[in-house]
Amino acid sequence: MTKRISTKIAEIPLASFIFNASGPRCTEEDELNLLGTSASAAIMTKSCTMEPREGNAEPRYQALPYGSIQSMGLPNLGYKAYLEMLPRLKQAGKPIVVSISGFSLADNLTMVKAFQTSCADLIEVNFSCPNIEGKAQVGYDFEQTERALEQLCELGSKPIGLKLPPYFDFSHFNTMANIIKKFPVSFITCINSVGNTLVIDPETESAIIKPKGGFGGLCGDYIKPIGLANVRAFSQLLPSSIDIIGVGGIKTGTDAFEYLLAGASAVQVATCFEKEGVECFDRIAKELDSIMAAKQYSSIAAVKGKLKMI
Ligand code: FUM
Repeated sequence: MTKRISTKIAEIPLASFIFNASGPRCTEEDELNLLGTSASAAIMTKSCTMEPREGNAEPRYQALPYGSIQSMGLPNLGYKAYLEMLPRLKQAGKPIVVSISGFSLADNLTMVKAFQTSCADLIEVNFSCPNIEGKAQVGYDFEQTERALEQLCELGSKPIGLKLPPYFDFSHFNTMANIIKKFPVSFITCINSVGNTLVIDPETESAIIKPKGGFGGLCGDYIKPIGLANVRAFSQLLPSSIDIIGVGGIKTGTDAFEYLLAGASAVQVATCFEKEGVECFDRIAKELDSIMAAKQYSSIAAVKGKLKMI
């Protein structure tokens, strides 16, 4: 990987701008090991819960012409399994980002506290999973978010970030940015899937996924403009010390370059990784590197947030 696309999140160096999102292919230890030997700049784990989970009923993932709809329901091994495997994953020699997604503040406090004394490099707290029946996305409840941050940020010195749902109004960008600014949040990840969308198969006259009456998170190309807008809005509202990780519809170097212009310090890949496997990280990194070389940009910092207005 060339130095041109190296970056940092919360001062943790990453060899490239691109790594996996907490989503597909990062639940089992063999999947995480594969990320360790791939060109993914970090090993990101599937969001974990207090106990292991099978996740929602199948079919719960369907590819679509321009992305996917999913309602996985947080299938994961339980946080203790990830805690236990971290020292082994660390042997890959790249940063490890753990994602946690408790069902209550108490769950999140327990898990963040445990990972604070682990060899994880970054902790991403998922406030935006839309796929748990009866559980609202924390990131849409501003008071709950603030109350949670008051306690989560007290638990240690390892960098903490938030995975946020997509916002669609400037009043929401402003409110969330003002909350984040009150706490030592090191990074935010924008965006999770666009929650509670519905895709119908007119032939079978049914929804195409089973959980939650067919409602699921929309991912891939469909949501790239929403991801770009969220990264851009937060990059204008937050201090530059808070890194922004872009997610949503990244499948080429051009997509990654657009997120960089919007203000991202790194990007995560989900739907494309599900479809293509670990090879996508090397391909997207090389494509981004070529774009930057052709434009004579020598570093991520030279482009980050430099979106031009017309
Ligand atoms: O359903 C899921 O496992 C998805 C998680 C998320 O959107 O964070």
